[in-house]
Amino acid sequence: MNETALTVHQTARPHGFPTADHFSFAESTIPDPAPGSALVENLYWSVDPYHRELMDDAPGGFALHAPLEGRSIGRVIASRTPRLAEGEIVFHRHGWRTHAVITPDETRRLPRFDGVPLTAYLSTLGGTGLTAYVGLTRIARLQEGEDLFVSAAAGGVGTATGRFARLLHAGRLVGSAGSAAKAVHLVREVGYDAVFDYHDGPVHDLLGRVAPAGVDVFVDNVGGEQLAAAVGALREFGRIVRIGTISQYNTPGAPAPRFNYADIVEKSIRMEGFLVSNYRDVQEELYAFAVPHLQSGRLALDETVIDGFEHIVDAFLGMLRGENTGKIIVRDRTQVPSAH
Ligand SMILES: NC(=O)c1ccc[n+]([C@@H]2O[C@H](COP(=O)([O-])OP(=O)(O)OC[C@H]3O[C@@H](n4cnc5c(N)ncnc54)[C@H](OP(=O)(O)O)[C@@H]3O)[C@@H](O)[C@H]2O)c1
Repeated sequence: MNETALTVHQTARPHGFPTADHFSFAESTIPDPAPGSALVENLYWSVDPYHRELMDDAPGGFALHAPLEGRSIGRVIASRTPRLAEGEIVFHRHGWRTHAVITPDETRRLPRFDGVPLTAYLSTLGGTGLTAYVGLTRIARLQEGEDLFVSAAAGGVGTATGRFARLLHAGRLVGSAGSAAKAVHLVREVGYDAVFDYHDGPVHDLLGRVAPAGVDVFVDNVGGEQLAAAVGALREFGRIVRIGTISQYNTPGAPAPRFNYADIVEKSIRMEGFLVSNYRDVQEELYAFAVPHLQSGRLALDETVIDGFEHIVDAFLGMLRGENTGKIIVRDRTQVPSAH
């Protein structure tokens, strides 16, 4: 067990892209749990694009010089409540810190499935996978054989969307990503039919090349030019699943995408956004769908794992720059598998 606790604070509001200077690591003694609570030593942390949104000076955002929130998995190391046993592994939202004092109501017990690693509860079985699953089944209402375009296809939501779409018997699956290497990975490993690097030219042209006959569903993690191009590529009764707008999180003044609004009417397009927090009731269904495939090997986890809590800010900034493939997760060094 570590001797001191570390907690990340945000220290300033970014204008545009954040840097490590917007954060600090506060050192303290390890907290004592009050009656009714327990002390958790965190083992895995999720850093997410929505944290960038919370960095802005807006209602509900991160307070400066205060602990941040984030999804985390940890082990109970001291307990003053019968509802949390020492040694138990729990999920909670007091992330961005090595140690957290939590109450039972703030935690979720994780079901354990043979052969499924803990990281899966932050990636494919966690909020990231749930977002992909809800997007396909509840918002797109994907039908067998339908063709999809997915933006930020190499990220956590994008890889899960691709793998789930394959298991749900989608038709042609195309995507966009930030590098040629990611495009190759998505086609070879994840099951995409064709992927373009969105830096290679106007997205309208690049999308037209990989999906000349159009698509039925657009799963949008990015917004901006990719959204505009997808409206043009959608077929009649097309659906746009609005998941995120990461192309704008670091460019607050960016102009809204321009597209032909008449397309929405003339092609009977439905555009619907959602927040995964409103679909927690689908969690058990995700387990029932994904776990057997994980166990049989038909479904693989896409994760970029960064070792050492001291790298959590770098991991977050790297994710915003596109350094991850699949879900980015920070892992405590005690969880690194030994070489033997
Ligand atoms: N609605 C919800 O409830 C919900 C839940 C989870 C996530 N989300 C949203 O879903 C999206 C994906 O989240 P995630 O957790 O899976 O993150 P992620 O895709 O694993 O990571 C972010 C990725 O975005 C890409 N990116 C960064 N700047 C970009 C830009 N200007 N244009 C295009 N792509 C850019 C980068 O990949 P490249 O190398 O490809 O650029 C980066 O790897 C985000 O917009 C997030 O806010 C929404």
